[in-house]
Amino acid sequence: MDARFEELRRREFSRLDAQGHVYLDYTGAGLYSERQVRANAEFLCGSVFGNPHSRNPTSLAATQLCEDARTRVLDYFNADPELYEVVFTLNASGALKLVGEAFPWEPGGRILLTADNHNSVNGLREFASAHGADVRYVPPCPDLRLNALEEHMAGADRNAHNLFAFPAQSNFSGVKHSLDAIQLAHDHGYHVLLDAAAFVPTNPLDLRRYAPDFVCISFYKMFGFPTGVGVLLARRNALGELHRPWFAGGTVRFVSAQNKDVHLQHVTGRAFEDGTLNYLGIAAVPAGLDFLEEIGIERINAHVMGLTETLLNDMLALRHGNGAPMVRIYGPENMEMRGGTIAFNLLDPEGGLVDFRAVEQRSNEAGISLRTGFFCNPGAAEFAFEYPDEEAFRCIKTLTPETFNIQVFSDCMSDHPVGAVRVSVGIASNRADLDRLMEVLCSFRDDGCAALPGAAALPALATVD
Ligand SMILES: Cc1ncc(COP(=O)(O)O)c(C=O)c1O
Repeated sequence: MDARFEELRRREFSRLDAQGHVYLDYTGAGLYSERQVRANAEFLCGSVFGNPHSRNPTSLAATQLCEDARTRVLDYFNADPELYEVVFTLNASGALKLVGEAFPWEPGGRILLTADNHNSVNGLREFASAHGADVRYVPPCPDLRLNALEEHMAGADRNAHNLFAFPAQSNFSGVKHSLDAIQLAHDHGYHVLLDAAAFVPTNPLDLRRYAPDFVCISFYKMFGFPTGVGVLLARRNALGELHRPWFAGGTVRFVSAQNKDVHLQHVTGRAFEDGTLNYLGIAAVPAGLDFLEEIGIERINAHVMGLTETLLNDMLALRHGNGAPMVRIYGPENMEMRGGTIAFNLLDPEGGLVDFRAVEQRSNEAGISLRTGFFCNPGAAEFAFEYPDEEAFRCIKTLTPETFNIQVFSDCMSDHPVGAVRVSVGIASNRADLDRLMEVLCSFRDDGCAALPGAAALPALATVD
């Protein structure tokens, strides 16, 4: 397996080693293979495409591109074309907004969100509460998994419109939330929105097996290129219940300025695609899906899981000279129902947190791309860092948009931790990447890195700031 992925790295991602990069931010964005880019350049150089909203030859060719991509996307996710529609969007957030602004929110209805959600999902609550719907959260357990979901789902008014929104995989902790929650929510009278953005780059999603009403995805997270194309996969009956708050070019059949009248498109994916699609970007999506399929998503999953397990074990084994652990993981410390994303902070020999910005700085110096902060997932952060309720509330209320930043917030809560380091592995990652990261982490050891076999001699922990 390793040899196969090493070969893949040499063939498709040689720029990483040529430029000395260690890329560990796959939850931020996937990397494109050279093959995709070459195929795209050849394809574009050999064709002429016009705006798909006309009926001329180049326009029809562009329309065909988009229709082929729709079919390919349905096919990749094993979605029944009789049941699911493809709505191309700018990204996962664009897909979420389409649902939020058109869902039939009403007093008596409810949005139930897992606290572990990306802000682009949290934002749905603004639409819900503006229309009088109830906003509720499901808190996670200490290891950031979910439990007692049913208790939180109970009591929804089945005569009203309710939405349950959750991520298939956490972009904070890497936890995979069970997809059985979809059926459970349906049984309790909810429509279900599945945020699959962090899940699909390394996991199969079979929409014949699981049937959420809405699924949002950003393609750059799956295969790096193109950026600027996402998708809302929506069940036709659920799409039919949405009421768009406006119309635009592409979503109408006829508009009269004189009579202020409008005939909207039939309820298909196209009725949700405002203006001219990113048709050249969309044209590159099938090649990305082909790339994943040729390697095999199960193989990618096994590769990523293997590296994650190694990294987790290496990190948990890191000790200071006095025997104190060096790493605190936020989320599961084992491989059960988790993906290739690890959130953590380093600890000093007395058990205090090392400033995550210091880890970022040393990682940057070593050419390692990772992420720090709370990763646009404040709900998971609040539980991971155990924000003191009252202090957090007071600080949120007293800090203004002008004065708020993550450090000021932490200071306001008497230096309470508000951020962490996140590493995530993917298709092109290898053990050498992990070793480079471990060298940097080990450089924070109280008496240097000698304890790590093969580690370069890096200096011990320096005072931060
Ligand atoms: C789980 C999850 N959902 C949604 C998003 C939003 O994706 P985008 O910024 O591409 O709209 C992200 C991005 O990091 C994510 O990780």
